Amino acid sequence: MSLATKVELKAETIKPKIGSRVLNAKEELLSGEIAGELRDLLEARGVLVFPKIDFTDDEQVAFTKTLGTFAPERPGDPEVISKITLDVKENPSSAEYLKGSLYWHIDGTRNGVPILASLLSCKIPSPKGTGNTGFANTYSAYDDLPDEKKAEIEDLRVVHGPWASLFYYEPEPSLAKLEGYAQVGEQELPLVWKHKSGRKSLVIGCTAAEVVGKSALESAKIIHGLRDWATGPDFTYSHEWEAGDLVIWDNTGTMHRAEPYDPTCGRMMHRTKLEGEEPFA
Ligand code: OGA
Ligand code: MN
Repeated sequence: MSLATKVELKAETIKPKIGSRVLNAKEELLSGEIAGELRDLLEARGVLVFPKIDFTDDEQVAFTKTLGTFAPERPGDPEVISKITLDVKENPSSAEYLKGSLYWHIDGTRNGVPILASLLSCKIPSPKGTGNTGFANTYSAYDDLPDEKKAEIEDLRVVHGPWASLFYYEPEPSLAKLEGYAQVGEQELPLVWKHKSGRKSLVIGCTAAEVVGKSALESAKIIHGLRDWATGPDFTYSHEWEAGDLVIWDNTGTMHRAEPYDPTCGRMMHRTKLEGEEPFA
């Protein structure tokens, strides 16, 4: 008679308001037995780090599928990983667009239902001191706002578009380039996302262009003021990568950004994503 052994989640806190490290073995993760607990932990902690888990691409895809619905990079794409690097030689189609990933952002603010989570694994790290990935917990940041501030921003709406992020890395774009970015579209989103769970998170990031009904200065003060708050030391964690690390972030309750690195240094990340389950509301 064999005794069925139940896999137990092994996790430790990284910082009080963001991040947990998961220490289970690869086989335990791939078994799917703790997938439900990992989903809950992700929602609670914003970011999960799996140090040196060393997944192959197939294993990363399989692990992703244990957690929810695999989201292809574009509708209809096969179930494969995406290469994330600023190196134009490695990534001719999206290295330009990834320049926006150097600024605090949420993935997929163009979609009514943004992706639930991204899984990023490090194949080749950049030199130490460069190319960390920063994460900010926008649930905790909202929760800790003073009540008057919460009341002030509760019902505000913000126009988002990738064109707004272009100005972060190219302050004087040509009209043709701006029009190219504008073609991707714009979307009006709530500033405070009221989740089905009852929790609330802030929807801010470099795609935020303006607060509806406010002057340019008022908009900037609201958006940049909240970002300044949400990216303070209490709510953030900066992950220094080792080859083989995997990090998952809850894209509905965090922002993230790549910290600067030399695009030609060889840094290579492989990303998979989980389909969103809840519209911005
Ligand atoms: C992403 C992203 C950050 C990084 O893959 O969506 O923003 O550090 N990556 O490469
Ligand atoms: Mn991103």
